[in-house]
Parts: sequence; structure tokens; C-alpha cells
Amino acid sequence: MEFKLTREQELVQKMVRDFTETEVAPIAAETDRTAQYPADTIEQLFRYGVMGMNVPKEYGGAGADPISCAIAVEELSKACASTGDIVATHNGLCCGPIINNGTEAQKQKYLRMLTEGHKVGAFCLTEPNAGSDASKGTTTAVLEGDHYVLNGSKIFITNGYVCDVMVVFAMTDPSKGTKGISAFIVESSYPGFSVGKHEEKLGLHGSPTAELVFTDCIVPKENLLGVEGKGFNIAMQTLDGGRIGIAAQALGIAEGAMAEAMAFTKTRVQFGRPISKFQNTQFKFADMHMNIEAGRLLLYKAAYAQATQKRFSLDAACAKLFNSELAMKTTTEAVQMCGGYGYTRDYPVERMMRDAKITEIYEGTSEIQRIVISSNIL
Ligand code: CAA
Repeated sequence: MEFKLTREQELVQKMVRDFTETEVAPIAAETDRTAQYPADTIEQLFRYGVMGMNVPKEYGGAGADPISCAIAVEELSKACASTGDIVATHNGLCCGPIINNGTEAQKQKYLRMLTEGHKVGAFCLTEPNAGSDASKGTTTAVLEGDHYVLNGSKIFITNGYVCDVMVVFAMTDPSKGTKGISAFIVESSYPGFSVGKHEEKLGLHGSPTAELVFTDCIVPKENLLGVEGKGFNIAMQTLDGGRIGIAAQALGIAEGAMAEAMAFTKTRVQFGRPISKFQNTQFKFADMHMNIEAGRLLLYKAAYAQATQKRFSLDAACAKLFNSELAMKTTTEAVQMCGGYGYTRDYPVERMMRDAKITEIYEGTSEIQRIVISSNIL
């Protein structure tokens, strides 16, 4: 066992860290304030090969391994969790299931669009009455000749109002429960597709979240992903990978908040000395550091499992649960350490605290992660 990154992983870390410091950090507060999708940043991330970095080279990507992908999201999320989220969703939730389940023709067409074509991807599973109980979706897909007709709506979709390509889950045989769900690749240009409500959220303001509506939406038969009836398995397999992306995002948020709190406490003088000189502050940083190290080990272990194992649900759930709770605790503590200043929009820790909360909710709540962990170990 070796606890060090490969040369390639170090290069990814350095490249994305430099990019984050020069291009992402300076606009993170403005992105949050204006709730503006960071289109220029995402365009640059396509050019740097970070968007779609998990796609094999033969389909236009960088062929990056899961640890490199996690590092990229971790680095971006240190400064801007919205950017980390957009990238994690595109890579893990849209490119991921096409890489794992697509036909050669689907991979050639869609993975190239999602890399060289600079088209943004999304993943459409959640519905108004099917959140944690993901199998209860009511969107239907009916085969009519050479195409499927999709009807229904999906909510809380990351990249929702900017995406060009979606992986959509719909019932092809409602009588069969989870075995009646199928997955489809849908383009936003298809007739019958429309964007519904844009969500206004507590945090992640730069990440575009929307309802997506399918009204007699025509999807070519060849866009069925995998085989009919295997959609739920594809969704679960994809979410295992996606949860590693959220763990990386959460870890990055925690690291960013700790760095901000350290900088603040080193210069903030009260009772005659910087507050970093008080043991109360030092012990808090000691705990933060220890927990961040533990979170990173869980994250990289899960990403390693993704690279080497067929099923990695347990490692992914542990990494997501630990890091999302770490992000919430660390950002809350960082706001406390920065006091009144930390509560204002002049300092980034309040944004980080708002951004952290969703990591305990999306791609499977903390409660769902505990279900996955306990069912895997008992
Ligand atoms: N990989 C592959 N297959 C899996 C799997 C996995 N990790 N987990 C389960 N399956 C398969 C099972 O083997 C079973 O298949 P068979 O019937 O062929 O044996 C089938 O799926 C059903 O399994 P379960 O009976 O365990 O399923 P369940 O209905 O009890 O659900 C659950 C289990 C873990 C609670 C699941 O519903 C779940 O993860 N819920 C949370 C949903 C979620 O994370 N939603 C996030 C939405 S996406 C998002 O947030 C992104 C965004 O854009 C914001």
C-alpha cells in the first residue's frame, strides 16, 4: 500500500489548483451573489480537459482515473462548490453511465459531444414523489415504432437549464417496479423537451438547478442506454460514482473553509494577540486537520475502489457520508471562528456554510448513506 499520488494525479492536482486560484477563486463570491452560471469558467474547463476528464481517450476525453477526477472536484470546490458541482455532475452522472453502459455508437456520438463538443451533461432521476425512494418515478417511456415517447417531469436537476445531453430514467413497464425502469440518452433539442422551474436555493447559487419536463418527447430507439428494465441498476451504479464526486466536493469545501478561518485568526487581534494564539482556536484547527485527513483517505480509498472493483457502494457511501458531515461541521466552525465578520458576505465562510448543506442531501441523503452502509456490512 502506498500513500502517495501518481505523477499524473499530482499533475492534475497542480493544474486544477493553479486554475482554481487564478480563475475560480476571484469570481466565486460574485457567482454566488448574482446566481450566475459560470459559463466562461466551464468553457475553460472543457479546454483544459477537466469537463469529461473521465472519458476514455478514444472518445475524446483524457482517460483520467477516478482519483484524478476526485482531486479535480476537490480543488475546484475549495474556492467554488458550484463549479465543483457542475463538473462532478457532468463527469460522474452523465459521462459515467454512458462510459459504463453505452454502445460503441452511443459512446462515439455522445462522449465526443460531452468532451470535444463542449456540450454539458445532466442526470435525471428525481421526481416530485420519488426522491430517496428513487424507484417510484412515474415518468413513462413508450416504444412507438423507431422511437420512445417520454412523458413526465424531473426535479432538482443539476445543470438543468444549461444541459445539452441528459441521462433520463423512465418506466418502460410500470407493472415490474424497479425492473420496469429504463435509461435513455436525451438531447435538449428533442421535440417535447422543455425546462420548467429554475430553483432558487440556499447555496450553490452558480450551479443551475431546474425542473425538466418531457411532454410526448420523442427519443430515438437507439438512445436506450443498456437494456430495457436495467435502468434502476444503471442509476444506482452511477450514483455510487456520483457520491464520490460529492465527497470530493464536500472535502474541498471543508478545506477551503479551514484555510479561510486560519487566515482570519492569524490576523484578527483580540485581548492583545491574534486569536490563532489562543489554545481554544488551535485545538479547533487540530481537530479540523485530523478530520480532513481522515476524509481525504476515505475519499481516495473510495475512488481507488471505483477504479479497481465492480461494486464500490460501501466505500462510496462512507466517503460521502463522512465528508458531507465534515463539510457542514467545518464550515459552521469556520463561521464561528470568524465571528461577526464570518456571518457577513464580505467573508467567504458563510457562502461555504450554505454550500456545504446540500452535500448532506443530494445524491442520497446522509440517512440513505447509512442505509447503504448498514445493508452492506450487516
Ligand atoms: N449498483 C448496481 N445495482 C444496484 C445497486 C448498486 N449500487 N444498488 C442496488 N442495486 C440493484 C439491486 O441489486 C436490485 O437489483 P435486482 O432486483 O436485479 O437484484 C435493485 O437495484 C433494487 O435494489 P434495492 O431493492 O436495494 O432498491 P431500493 O428500492 O430498496 O433502494 C436505495 C435502495 C439505496 C434506498 C436507493 O433507492 C437509493 O439510493 N436512494 C437514493 C436516491 C438518490 O441518491 N437520489 C439522488 C438523485 S440524483 C441527484 O441528486 C443528482 C442531481 O442532479 C441533484
